[in-house]
Amino acid sequence: MAEFSLPKNSKIQKGKHWPAPGAKKPRTFHVYRWSPDDDANPRMDTYEVDMAACGPMVLDALIKIKNEIDPTLTFRRSCREGICGSCAMNIDGTNTLACICAIDSVDKGHVKVHPLPHMPVVKDLVPDLTHFYAQYASIRPWIRTQSQPPADRERLQSPEDRKKLDGLYECILCACCSTSCPSYWWNGDRYLGPAILLQAYRWIADSRDEDTGTRLDELEDPFKLYRCHTIMNCTRTCPKGLNPAKAIAEIKKLMLARRL
Ligand code: SF4
Ligand code: F3S
Ligand code: FES
Repeated sequence: MAEFSLPKNSKIQKGKHWPAPGAKKPRTFHVYRWSPDDDANPRMDTYEVDMAACGPMVLDALIKIKNEIDPTLTFRRSCREGICGSCAMNIDGTNTLACICAIDSVDKGHVKVHPLPHMPVVKDLVPDLTHFYAQYASIRPWIRTQSQPPADRERLQSPEDRKKLDGLYECILCACCSTSCPSYWWNGDRYLGPAILLQAYRWIADSRDEDTGTRLDELEDPFKLYRCHTIMNCTRTCPKGLNPAKAIAEIKKLMLARRL
């Protein structure tokens, strides 16, 4: 197993170490810790977990650490099956969902766990998503119509039109993609980022929506959309297998088409 070490000039300190004497199948987890309640720098705590008595996913190990070793460890989770998006974090250098990330898939010995990168941290593994959600609200993510709905039923959609939403509606807004995007790291105050742009396209592509022109007008901005430089980290990291880069390209194509 490689020895865990921090860069010499790192402000992150080596933290506490909880050994697991007598563990049948020990595995070491290095976990980012920071609390707003003291003035200390962030640190990496080390926990040894007995895999013989732990579930298979990284979230299982974090829950075991919290329940049995260190109740102060803080992280978000809810569904534990890749649906709610709340357990998004950086595991061994990749943004993903802890509840569907198998510990065995991390093959370099120690499992390193950090919060999603380039976001303010509320505590430990909990990122502050206030700005991300405000950006989501800014695209007004609901069906916008001018026409009256049919009196006797909802607005219908053909199976072909419904199919156009495949690969879009599955997005769980976990923010793994946006926080893996260098453009979003540097310009996240104004660039909407891949998650929000995929969501924007989800409504543009919906045959029932009647506000496409306004939606495109609102994205016609040097920062909101065009800070995507096709870096592709977003698509590589999406734990739901979606392709935000393609959705962004579709918006750019529509922008071009209406100019010609
Ligand atoms: Fe998460 Fe994928 Fe949606 Fe991005 S596109 S927010 S990575 S589910
Ligand atoms: Fe970023 Fe993805 Fe574009 S990583 S630059 S949003 S293709
Ligand atoms: Fe819901 Fe992981 S706990 S996606």
